[in-house]
Amino acid sequence: MSKQIIAPSFLSCDFGRIKEEVEYYNLTQAEWFHLDVMDGVFVPNISFGMPIIQAIKKHSQKPLDVHLMIVNPEKYISAFRDAGADNITIHAEASHHLHRAIYQIKETGAKAGIALNPATSVESIYDILEDIDIVCLMSVNPGFGGQKFIYKTLEKIKKIKSEIISRNLNTLIEIDGGVGLENAETILQAGADVLVAGNSIFKSQDPKSTIEKLKAIEAFKSF
Ligand code: DX5
Ligand code: ZN
Repeated sequence: MSKQIIAPSFLSCDFGRIKEEVEYYNLTQAEWFHLDVMDGVFVPNISFGMPIIQAIKKHSQKPLDVHLMIVNPEKYISAFRDAGADNITIHAEASHHLHRAIYQIKETGAKAGIALNPATSVESIYDILEDIDIVCLMSVNPGFGGQKFIYKTLEKIKKIKSEIISRNLNTLIEIDGGVGLENAETILQAGADVLVAGNSIFKSQDPKSTIEKLKAIEAFKSF
């Protein structure tokens, strides 16, 4: 089993020092930079769009993991790819034609992710599991950083992990929201591959060492 991927969520960064922030995180063990795009319609908050992603791309040495919390994501897939996205994750709840949207993402050369809100069951994507590179399980209701981890997510991780294993797939399970040093081991033990963490990294005393600690966790895997 390969080591967990750590993806700091830049929603919690200091946007006035974006270049310095990116350069700092370039030198950490973080593998991906997680970028949250919010439109104020799909979620009750507005964050940033293409210009900020372009600015981050200019300085980043890591793949950009772009999480679209927007309605009509299909409309903007190529624009986000052009802005520098390496992974593009859209919400199952935001698209009526997920299968088509996944292939739209793949045609750009990006990896395709599907995010599920806490109220959306993992079974709802079983028929397209083979087509997806990343399943992002939201462990908070999307829209804001710094919320509490919803523990019910652990059951969803276990369920989809066993489905992925039984079908012999390489789909990565990403967990987004309320992840930190206090619960990372349990989350990894349940079957997560990618940990997104905003506040627990950016607001910590020493973000670099927090990432090292998250990376060093050896979870007992029951699968
Ligand atoms: C929530 C976002 C998350 C958020 C995570 O809507 O999708 O990526 O930045 O932040 P924390 O880790 O602080 O919960
Ligand atoms: Zn996110």
